Amino acid sequence: MSAVIRSTGLWTPDESVSNDELVACFNAYVERFNAENADAIARGSIEAKNPSSSGFIEKASGIKSRYTIDKAGVLDVERMRPRVKPRANDELALTAEAGVAAARDALARAGRDPKDVDAVICSGTSMQRTYPCMAIEMQDALGIEGFGFDMTVACSSGTFGMVNAINMIDTGMAKSVLVIVPEITTPQLNFRDRDSHFIFGDVAVAVLIEHEDVAGGEGWRVVGRNMMTKFSNNIRSNFGFLNASEDPEPDFDDRYFVQEGRKVFKEVCPMVAEMILNDMASFGLKPDQMKRLWLHQANINMNMLVARKVFGREFEPDEAPVILDEFANTAGAGSLVAFHRHNDGFEAGEKGLICSFGAGYSAGTVFVEKL
Ligand code: COA
Repeated sequence: MSAVIRSTGLWTPDESVSNDELVACFNAYVERFNAENADAIARGSIEAKNPSSSGFIEKASGIKSRYTIDKAGVLDVERMRPRVKPRANDELALTAEAGVAAARDALARAGRDPKDVDAVICSGTSMQRTYPCMAIEMQDALGIEGFGFDMTVACSSGTFGMVNAINMIDTGMAKSVLVIVPEITTPQLNFRDRDSHFIFGDVAVAVLIEHEDVAGGEGWRVVGRNMMTKFSNNIRSNFGFLNASEDPEPDFDDRYFVQEGRKVFKEVCPMVAEMILNDMASFGLKPDQMKRLWLHQANINMNMLVARKVFGREFEPDEAPVILDEFANTAGAGSLVAFHRHNDGFEAGEKGLICSFGAGYSAGTVFVEKL
């Protein structure tokens, strides 16, 4: 294979929200809801809402805080969603701005000029609009020639985007591709839902993938990649372009992320561990050759389970780094943020795996070797 991950770049919002701050707002909402509906709750026609807890969130998920594009809106009990100021059509779109910042970081780390790049793939859970493509807007803002396109595969958006870039390089279609994953997820989250209000955070990550002929011996050679999908309704959002035409119009609540967290946990972990082990076998790789697993970041307990199955033993924290404490679940960006933050200490020839998993279900693997 001829593709090399040359560099990565990251953008985070300025503000983050701790579990305690989030829970205080949620519990104020619950108190108010229960007081306003006291009679109906007493009659049994409305169910009282239960408070959330920071302790539960950290233990069940590993999340301690999350970045957000608007802390005040998220923590305003009257609102409980980020406030997004509309932008004129001639201004850079919000998600494009986040993606461009991550892309500039990736280009700077590799010492590359936008003119060196042939294509831009914008891959993320949700696109800000349908067209023109977010990738084309970012391509224009960065001054990149060639072409760009959008794609979306929920939490596997990052790895599936990379596999597309790797394949374009392997087939000779491009020498240098920027994969940009802007995950502005907090507007998709129902901050009034106790089961999921803590899950997501905002981030953008970018990966510059080059042909080995132009990578100059720097970066990470791709030594194997794969994608798999299996339909499941256990993680779902019904948000889409038909909503405004549906009659009766769906409840606003029905447009948010929902999941059966327990089922996801039980079904996805074995599916992913099996995929990784099968992929390793088909690429001639062995678990003891993996110095580090940069796994999807949804839940620390999922990562422990998957890593234990892959390594076939207990492992050290730096063998499967977790960024959930700072970032929470950043959907398609998670495994790439983990890679960006924790790829130090590798000697030439040492190997690792970037692996995503999530809604769809979907799972993607990109095996890499340090040059
Ligand atoms: N605060 C306090 N308690 C809470 C709570 C909250 N915010 N949310 C749920 N609980 C309670 C439940 O009511 C339940 O109580 P009960 O046992 O008395 O009924 C208990 O905690 C366990 O709830 P459950 O939903 O089974 O928790 P969990 O251990 O499965 O953890 C998730 C929930 C969402 C963290 C976990 O299921 C998960 O991460 N799943 C996979 C997520 C994932 O990968 N998603 C992919 C999206 S990309």
